[in-house]
Amino acid sequence: MENNQPLASLDEWEKDILERYPDPETIATNKATEAFRDYKAEARDTVKEFYRLNHQYQSYDFVLDKKADFLQFNKKEMPIWNAFDFLNELVDDSDPDTDLDQMQHLLQTSEAIRNDGHPDWMVLVGLIHDMGKVLCLFGEPQWAVVGDTFPVGCAWSDKIVFPEFFSDNPDFENDIYSQKYGVYAPNCGLRNVHMSWGHDEYVYHMMKDYLPEEGLYMLRYHSFYAQHREGAYDHLMDEHDHKMFKWVKLFNPYDLYSKNPNQKSWEELQPYYTALVKEYLPETLKF
Ligand SMILES: [Fe+2]
Ligand SMILES: [Fe+2]
Repeated sequence: MENNQPLASLDEWEKDILERYPDPETIATNKATEAFRDYKAEARDTVKEFYRLNHQYQSYDFVLDKKADFLQFNKKEMPIWNAFDFLNELVDDSDPDTDLDQMQHLLQTSEAIRNDGHPDWMVLVGLIHDMGKVLCLFGEPQWAVVGDTFPVGCAWSDKIVFPEFFSDNPDFENDIYSQKYGVYAPNCGLRNVHMSWGHDEYVYHMMKDYLPEEGLYMLRYHSFYAQHREGAYDHLMDEHDHKMFKWVKLFNPYDLYSKNPNQKSWEELQPYYTALVKEYLPETLKF
């Protein structure tokens, strides 16, 4: 039987992204290649298998089904802090390089944003950007929670990682979905485009009443590397998307590269974040 969960942990996907898009600063000091060499040797096949499953199963119908189900938000209601507790349990000991649990990653991201003096809603985006990973709580497979995202219902760009795996997707031979624009009109704007399903789309919908649009773009498209790094979907974007993607691009390095060894402890940070969450979000969130 097929192993639905090939990654040792969800972080394995994010570490793989770092190999594709290494920190310009660490390349300069030549540390990155050394640090990631072992990981690459061990993780290659699992990451590849992960993308094989992701590209095979993330079809247009699959996305619509998942949206119809999860966007009802009728599964659970809990304070955001319970969701973070759950994320922390996702850490897997078999990961060769598990120095950060999910909460640490979120805090590293939000603290780096705060230290650079960005608006407080962006700090909050840093804190919650991966909260959609609670999809694992509901038994969703890794390939339906994380992974680079891409539009469905139209042709895949060869700028998406491992594009060859799309040949196993049911949409591959579809007369409409395999066309450049598929079900969409040229430059129709991303708000009219269905993205592959995962933690980005889910958290966007969860937060859409509470944050400014710039922050919502960061949440919704933070794993859309084919666009924010490669510019592969300009033909679906409109002027407004391009303006908003400046914010997505601003956010991405905080997600990928903010590793501060002298991170303040949660005890120290807690008062600030408790107040921040209170300012923007309700007592409990629906999942
Ligand atoms: Fe993420
Ligand atoms: Fe992240």
